[in-house]
Amino acid sequence: MYIPGGAEDAVLILDRLETHFKVRTKPFARPLSVHAVDDVSLAIRKGETVAVVGESGSGKTTLGRTAVRLIEPTGGRVLYDGQDITHTKMKNLMWLRRKTQIVPQDPYASVNPAFTVFKILEEPLIVHHEGTTEEREDRVHKALESVKLIPPDIFERKFAHMLSGGQRQRVAVARAMILDPELIIADEPVSMLDASVRVSILDLLRQIQTDRRVAFLYITHDLATARHFANRIAVMYAGKLAELGPVGSVLAEPLHPYTQALMAAIPDPDPENRFRKIAALPGEPPSLVSPPSGCRFHPRCPIARQGLCEVEVPALRELRPGHFVACHLAV
Ligand SMILES: Nc1ncnc2c1ncn2[C@@H]1O[C@H](COP(=O)(O)OP(=O)(O)OP(=O)(O)O)[C@@H](O)[C@H]1O
Ligand SMILES: [Mg+2]
Repeated sequence: MYIPGGAEDAVLILDRLETHFKVRTKPFARPLSVHAVDDVSLAIRKGETVAVVGESGSGKTTLGRTAVRLIEPTGGRVLYDGQDITHTKMKNLMWLRRKTQIVPQDPYASVNPAFTVFKILEEPLIVHHEGTTEEREDRVHKALESVKLIPPDIFERKFAHMLSGGQRQRVAVARAMILDPELIIADEPVSMLDASVRVSILDLLRQIQTDRRVAFLYITHDLATARHFANRIAVMYAGKLAELGPVGSVLAEPLHPYTQALMAAIPDPDPENRFRKIAALPGEPPSLVSPPSGCRFHPRCPIARQGLCEVEVPALRELRPGHFVACHLAV
């Protein structure tokens, strides 16, 4: 097994992971295969935050969901704490459901509006048979305090439909944290929120990062928030890793022409603009049904070399310490 960047002290290892979906465009038509994740190898160390960035449709959510086995991969392996869970049956993954949690994109869809905040937070404790009634009450209180929904005895009685988007996302974060997970998949946790509350939710996640030794897979469109939140950045393009490395190294010296294009699209550091999504690159992202041969970026690449880039799939090469790039021409 070869994992770029190493796999010591890893909580999660993805080894040549592949998730293809079968889709039918018409009933009875031959199903087509969508190559959402293709040959991705990556480890997340205990307490580490890895940001996965890339355009819409590049496979970020599929990667995150496959990593915690909400989706069964079509190829490669998923190892959690060294244990191979690639094809473990759902019913044998209860322990994983408690060690890993997801903070989703849309708090309006993920938090049941008809439940009280107390019920939303107590539910995972009940499912995992945690504590007595009093102990659960105590943990719900503490969880609310930790996400600054204070005083907890007022907030716990509210129905989710009475909360603002930012408050709901705090409830979603509290719910994700209540079982003390080792790994959180935060899938664009602030992209649906008003600009005014984004900073406070990111600050909250950062607080959790420093207070508890929890690892994050932080999925985002946005390199600017990755800079503030992550230890390493993994850039995805059309289901594959284009670049991987320490945040400082990748952002100071992006080696892949795709990452360079994303960087050029980062808006000015004015906080009002900080969270703008990646500006459109010229040309369309490729179809994942029949991805381009060779390097998937070659049709849009300003430096592609004929006879090479459309023929050979570039391997990830370590050009700086811990900093890998899948480009034939990067030096
Ligand atoms: N359940 C599914 N069945 C079929 N195709 C799917 C399924 N889920 C995702 N896809 C396809 O897989 C590809 C990757 O989708 P994914 O949602 O992982 O991208 P993403 O990077 O998270 O995009 P976004 O930034 O828009 O959230 C897309 O082409 C998508 O249409
Ligand atoms: Mg997504």
